[in-house]
Amino acid sequence: MGKIISGKEVSKVLREQIKADATALRENSGIQPGLAVILVGNDPASQIYVRNKQKACEEVGFHAFEFKLNENATEEQLLDLIGVLNKDNKVHGILVQLPLPDHIDPQTVINNISPQKDVDAFHPVNVGKIMIGNYDFLPCTPAGVMELIDSTGVEIGGKNCVVVGRSNIVGKPMAMLLLHQNATVTICHSKTKNLSEICATADILVSAVGRAHFITADMVKEGAIVIDVGMNHDENGKLCGDVEFAEVEPKASYITPVPGGVGPMTITMLMKNTLRAAELKLKNQK
Ligand code: GUN
Repeated sequence: MGKIISGKEVSKVLREQIKADATALRENSGIQPGLAVILVGNDPASQIYVRNKQKACEEVGFHAFEFKLNENATEEQLLDLIGVLNKDNKVHGILVQLPLPDHIDPQTVINNISPQKDVDAFHPVNVGKIMIGNYDFLPCTPAGVMELIDSTGVEIGGKNCVVVGRSNIVGKPMAMLLLHQNATVTICHSKTKNLSEICATADILVSAVGRAHFITADMVKEGAIVIDVGMNHDENGKLCGDVEFAEVEPKASYITPVPGGVGPMTITMLMKNTLRAAELKLKNQK
């Protein structure tokens, strides 16, 4: 395998397996995994993400249910819809696309999704399970990053891992998954002192900052694995990650590109979680 870790390639293999498992589930039990995606408002980036999720559902043979609420929809309307979907037997996973408009509290919304249908793994019950290491679902982006690291064949145990970014969606769970694999983990954030020096100690560096050109060559150790979770636009409007790819790539042993790295993996792991939700429901009925 080359130095550049292709999320497209890793995704392709995983999606074929998910499709085969979904076919087997349908043939054995008549259940077709179903994912409900809710989009509130007209954010252009969110619209693209939602469309890609639907396309992925079709590709692996899942049922996709799409719900579009307008920008002015109330929190109550959204919670009512979630209440209906929580009870719907055809819906195994519910995803509310974030960010939400300012007048809706995202944590209240997440708290109202049934933990068994929470394929983002954002509900406090699922977050707690991840902390303990006994979980049903993993959050999609960190789970995708773990698959990409795994594809290199490099052992994580004992490695120095630095995660830049401490969001609930990526940074915090990312650190926990690396810790579960016996890494020594440091989480850096906007208040971190000596950020460059700390990053330069990383055998595995994961950047989830959301700023173009943030990770430069001087912040990367020779031979490090560099995973770029960033999805930014540069001065020319071109999609780019957090990592200054051209100068970092020669130093890295493995590196993910943007696009084509972490992005495709996130959706693939969402498919995996939706399949798992359907399988768990069947198991719990037996
Ligand atoms: N917006 C950006 N990333 C995500 C994600 O992983 N899940 C949801 N629901 N919304 C997002």
